[in-house]
Amino acid sequence: MNRRQLLLAGGASLALPLILAGSARAMQSGEALLATGFADDIDPAIRSRERLDQDWRFALGHATDANKDFGHGLRAFFFAKAGYGDGPASREFSDAAWRLVNLPHDWAVELPFDGRGNTNHGSKAIGRNFPENSVGWYRKAFTVSPADKGRRISLEFDGVYRDSVVWVNGHYMGTEPSGYSGFRYDITDYINFDGENLIAVRVDATGEEGWFYEGAGIYRHVWLTKTAPLHVAQWGTFVKSTVNGAQAYLDIEVAVDNLADADQTFQLRHEVYGPDGRKVAEVETQSLNVAGHKTGLFTAKLAVTTAALWSLETPNLYRLRTLLVKDGAVVDVYNTRFGIRTIVFDPDKGFFLNGKNLKLQGANNHQDHAGVGVALPDGLQTWRLNQLKSFGVNAYRTSHHPPTPELLAAADQLGMLVVDEHRMMGTSPEIKGQLERLIRRDRNHPSVIIWSVGNEEWALEGNPLGTHLAIEMQAFVKRLDPTRRTTVATSYSGKGVSLGADVIGFNYGAQHDVDAFHRAHPDKPAMMSEEGSTLTTRGIYFDDRARSHLNAYDRQGRPGSSLSIEEGWRRVQERPWMSGMFIWTGFDYRGETTPFGWPAISSQFGMIDTTGVLKDTAYYLKSVWTLEPMVHILPHWNWAGREGETMDVRVYSNTEAVELFLNGRSLGRKVIVKDSHLKWEVAYAPGKLSARAYTGGKQVARAEVVTTNVPAQTRLSPDKITLRADGEDVSVVWVNVLDKAGHIVPTASDRVYFETTGPIRILGVGNGDPNSHEADCVADRHTYQNVGSWRSLAVDVIEGRPEWVGHGVDTSGWRDPMQWMPPEAQPPLTKGVVLQGRFDRSVIAAGDKIALFIDQLSPDQKIYVNGDLVSAQSVDGALKIELAAARFKDVNTLAYLLRTPEGGIPGIADRSVGGSKWGTLRVTQSAAPWQRSVFNGWAQVIVQSTGAPGRAVLKATALTLKSSAAAFNIV
Ligand code: GAL
Repeated sequence: MNRRQLLLAGGASLALPLILAGSARAMQSGEALLATGFADDIDPAIRSRERLDQDWRFALGHATDANKDFGHGLRAFFFAKAGYGDGPASREFSDAAWRLVNLPHDWAVELPFDGRGNTNHGSKAIGRNFPENSVGWYRKAFTVSPADKGRRISLEFDGVYRDSVVWVNGHYMGTEPSGYSGFRYDITDYINFDGENLIAVRVDATGEEGWFYEGAGIYRHVWLTKTAPLHVAQWGTFVKSTVNGAQAYLDIEVAVDNLADADQTFQLRHEVYGPDGRKVAEVETQSLNVAGHKTGLFTAKLAVTTAALWSLETPNLYRLRTLLVKDGAVVDVYNTRFGIRTIVFDPDKGFFLNGKNLKLQGANNHQDHAGVGVALPDGLQTWRLNQLKSFGVNAYRTSHHPPTPELLAAADQLGMLVVDEHRMMGTSPEIKGQLERLIRRDRNHPSVIIWSVGNEEWALEGNPLGTHLAIEMQAFVKRLDPTRRTTVATSYSGKGVSLGADVIGFNYGAQHDVDAFHRAHPDKPAMMSEEGSTLTTRGIYFDDRARSHLNAYDRQGRPGSSLSIEEGWRRVQERPWMSGMFIWTGFDYRGETTPFGWPAISSQFGMIDTTGVLKDTAYYLKSVWTLEPMVHILPHWNWAGREGETMDVRVYSNTEAVELFLNGRSLGRKVIVKDSHLKWEVAYAPGKLSARAYTGGKQVARAEVVTTNVPAQTRLSPDKITLRADGEDVSVVWVNVLDKAGHIVPTASDRVYFETTGPIRILGVGNGDPNSHEADCVADRHTYQNVGSWRSLAVDVIEGRPEWVGHGVDTSGWRDPMQWMPPEAQPPLTKGVVLQGRFDRSVIAAGDKIALFIDQLSPDQKIYVNGDLVSAQSVDGALKIELAAARFKDVNTLAYLLRTPEGGIPGIADRSVGGSKWGTLRVTQSAAPWQRSVFNGWAQVIVQSTGAPGRAVLKATALTLKSSAAAFNIV
């Protein structure tokens, strides 16, 4: 046996078989996106990283009323003594009546729109004016095998919006104010290996961090990670590469945590696997040592003889597999995805990737999408990046907050450059802590080309504090990542932040004299971190302010502070030193309803709407950002009633010349001036407007817009029809309304209803209309009432006598079962006991469903509601009694008849946390059927597999239109 075989086979008791990297299962296309630290191909007995996304119980609590917050904060010592988490934070609380949800989850997207909401946040009924909608509770039970005793177990949250407080088994773990930073709790000490464990998370989305829609809830993944006490730290690896001809040198840094008491001696073995999954380099360290409860930092050097560089066209990814070997046995394995590439921001020549000069063709984006809010399934990250790429975007700025890890994984895989942005400028421990977590988490992603430490910090931009903070933050970043530069996006330059920024980010050309700044600071690289902020509604060509609709022609954006897109891009093109331009924005997003405010609910700055349909301005960018010959005409050609009127027809193309025809008659051929558009004034006549585009005298592209007939049919076009049966995979489905010839009717607004059969569910619907108050996401709405005022009566026979279990019984002489009594004062146990509690007539609307959730206090218990014997059904592990509204009285009773349990009443009262488990009334307003109007002919439905394989169908029906269906294979 050679040394390598010995390592792999191991010798000590911890030795476990390795699954070798060559199998590369995790790299197959269609697999889940993988960020740093993924563990898919690692033996789970060595390191396991399990998603805790499925089957969380969820309910809205209350931001100001503790009683409506399930009594949280009312129990004595609830925050004073360890393990006293009360209400839902306690282990014993019953969440049986709560909804089951899967993560990622955004409850804000389910709420109605309301004028009292914050327009910047999309006017959802959440925030200060809505304490009843602003706190969400999540609870999840899980088990840990006794075989895991001795391992370190941690709970990792990728992002919770916001102010989350986490308890495990009733014990407080911590508070994370940020809605964007990942955080982690080592919960090893609190684990119950012999039974259930309970995570409780209280999320308070009352506050805000941004001036855009931010969602609410656990909207990113949650992971349970198990390792040996000696292990690679979270985000503990850093691979730096230097390219030298065909070769690359790798400098590897690994942080090893030793959570054992004793010093540990071990070796690290680094294996590097190339894009094809083959091993290309490996190295093994000498013997290393970390003292007990310390972290050691170790470096290693490797060479890759023929490096396949990561680029936009060939996003080659490598994998570092780090094995921690102790006494011949592998005790940890850690995967790091990385890429080899060079990046340079040059003050004179702009940006270079692998030595090649390129302009950053960027898009700023927030993270919400139609239908799902901020709870994006992983597949939608890829879909959104592809949508941006379709018009030539090569760079993405994560304005203005740390992104979801899967967004960066998708950017790595698709070849998209990223400006990775921190939330708020500052150097306080909390702010620096967030910045540090961002950098440690993201520094291996080849897509990340620069860190942005701030955006338009108005209180600092123009003063010395701004300069100072920019310098301090930059130095801090450099210590964590010497391989990348740092930028700050500013709306003001000349003083303040702009002087401290390593690379200056100009927000809006019209707000700066960029040339004067460049002359004054010739050593500072620059980019247009924001340009545009133009306002266009997809498919609209005449303003309709009553509907908050603005024509889609490219005009100046905010007067005085931003340029038209064309003007903005031309200025970037004219300046070789300008690294590129980030359009504000790629996608429209909820909130920032400039210039309208309520009742508009989303922004209109985007090149594409909230669903991802390209607006005309995206075609301008496509004409200057892509090479494949294309031509695009605007507006559409359905102008009944405007016959003879002059229409402003514009054409975008990346060819040399375009000839326009109306109904076959040429309107002339025009030559395109670089980076601009063509324009014709055309008297409207119905029919066909067509464009032929030429390069070198040859027709290379064509386009047409036709006057359509009236709406006749719906059409569903899924982006994919085969989905993984994993409960996560999604298909993004376009919904169109067509005329009988099959043309999309650009003025159609028909309402379409959706139904599914088979193993898929609808996650959300949207249509890109910035003024639509239709529901993005429908869900049952529940309200809860605890049965209270409990009284108990000891009985000698177990019989449902009316004077015991009947309605309206006088219980004034009965005992309060919650009242503590010294053991010696307690009466002898009788054979049976009756418990009776009360609840009010709830507010019940027609169509509401009413259910009472009860506890299992003894195996043969009998239950009486208002004196009638009822039986409970077991649903998802809960005991549920459905009630008819007609049965309600002003005061209602719930009675249990029980064989007296061992320990008597005090015993059951104890484990029922003040009777809160004995009865919960739930009133449910059922979700409306899924529906959405098309907006100018378009809408979108996002469907997800439920977890089971099979054939599934999405059906679309509309009142007067022919219906349509899309079939899916779930495998
Ligand atoms: C910028 C700001 C962006 C967005 C934009 C709208 O000043 O950085 O976040 O608000 O204006 O025009």
